[in-house]
Amino acid sequence: MLSVLIIGTGGIARLHAEAYRNMGKSVRISGIVDTDRDRAAVFARKHELADAPGFSLYTDYHEALSKGCFDLVSICTPPPFHCAMSIDSLNAGAHVLLEKPMALSLEECDRILEAAEKAGRCVSVMAQNRYDTSKARIHRLISEGYCGRVLYAQAYSAWWRGAEYYDTWHGSWETEGGGCALNLAVHQIDLMLWLAGSIGELTAFIANVNHSNAEVEDLALGIVRFNSGAAAGGLGELLGSTVHHGEGQRLLFQTERAGLAFPFQITASRARTGGTPENDPETVAELTALCDRYPPLAVEGFEGQIRDFVSLIETGATSPFLPDGKSGRAAIEVVMALYKSAAAKRSVDLPLLPDDPFYTRAGLLEHAPYYNRRA
Ligand SMILES: NC(=O)c1ccc[n+]([C@@H]2O[C@H](COP(=O)([O-])OP(=O)(O)OC[C@H]3O[C@@H](n4cnc5c(N)ncnc54)[C@H](O)[C@@H]3O)[C@@H](O)[C@H]2O)c1
Repeated sequence: MLSVLIIGTGGIARLHAEAYRNMGKSVRISGIVDTDRDRAAVFARKHELADAPGFSLYTDYHEALSKGCFDLVSICTPPPFHCAMSIDSLNAGAHVLLEKPMALSLEECDRILEAAEKAGRCVSVMAQNRYDTSKARIHRLISEGYCGRVLYAQAYSAWWRGAEYYDTWHGSWETEGGGCALNLAVHQIDLMLWLAGSIGELTAFIANVNHSNAEVEDLALGIVRFNSGAAAGGLGELLGSTVHHGEGQRLLFQTERAGLAFPFQITASRARTGGTPENDPETVAELTALCDRYPPLAVEGFEGQIRDFVSLIETGATSPFLPDGKSGRAAIEVVMALYKSAAAKRSVDLPLLPDDPFYTRAGLLEHAPYYNRRA
């Protein structure tokens, strides 16, 4: 039986707890930690942990790691704690499931990856949106070459948040580490990289257009050039926002053979005489039939990722969907490149190397644009 510790019992921890509990007897939540003891106690009662044999509630994660014996630690705290908590958990011999964003700098990500390598333990960074049947099907269509090259990709992460959202740890470079690009668009960025390929060049604009109580951006736009994968040589667009009424998360991949969109839609055009387009229902039917050949995912979302991670730990079984520490880092690199480009007002090349100011947290804090500086 796998013994799990959850650190941080706020909003997102509920989905971790529910996933572990749905897995039955093979996994047991044996400890939770929160600096807010009352919150942790409510969490323990709500998830029927409080009276379970061997269960402990802690307010200090160091104490939990030294007293308990955990195989897996779910880190559900705000981003500034992710690096130290991951490294300490790995050093204590546990595997780590880390909430997004992986960390607040590439240097922190690299320290986590080094600790995992040294300890011989695994890291998975939450990117639960991969665990969606239509995305899984499109991933297979693209990766198995049925659509040809990806010529253009769009990742559109449009949210709306009121001022209260930023009256918390959100909204400051120090406590959130960035704005909508880091904390919200990171999901769509992960999907873009996973489905299309890596980015070699990026130009961005960011702004704070409607949240006077936030230091960070509430709007981010990036144009990218891909340098590997199905999209190598192609271009893409990124949007992160907390000012979009109605919200809407969209992805679009224009491939040689068809347009693939989420919410799920396949379109295809073919040339009439003179090169003007007409619909190509045969290609749409062919790709739709190929999609239908791939069975739906048995479990989607958080629980899908958590089940895959537990299988990896228990049996070594790998999954084409499971996000690891390297994919978590790749998404952070795109966000840091976006901040660098916006601050420098020019196009930047990836990778960002260790001597780049945007590789470290100190560099980001020095060079980031502070829109409404907090005291
Ligand atoms: N995967 C997703 O879709 C998704 C969605 C929302 C949030 N998140 C991520 O989850 C993380 C947590 O977000 P949240 O919305 O649950 O935040 P939250 O503020 O609701 O909860 C964070 C909890 O961590 C506790 N905490 C803070 N410092 C601690 C420490 N040093 N030791 C122990 N506990 C501590 C707080 O008391 C609080 O209970 C963030 O990284 C966030 O970006 C992910």
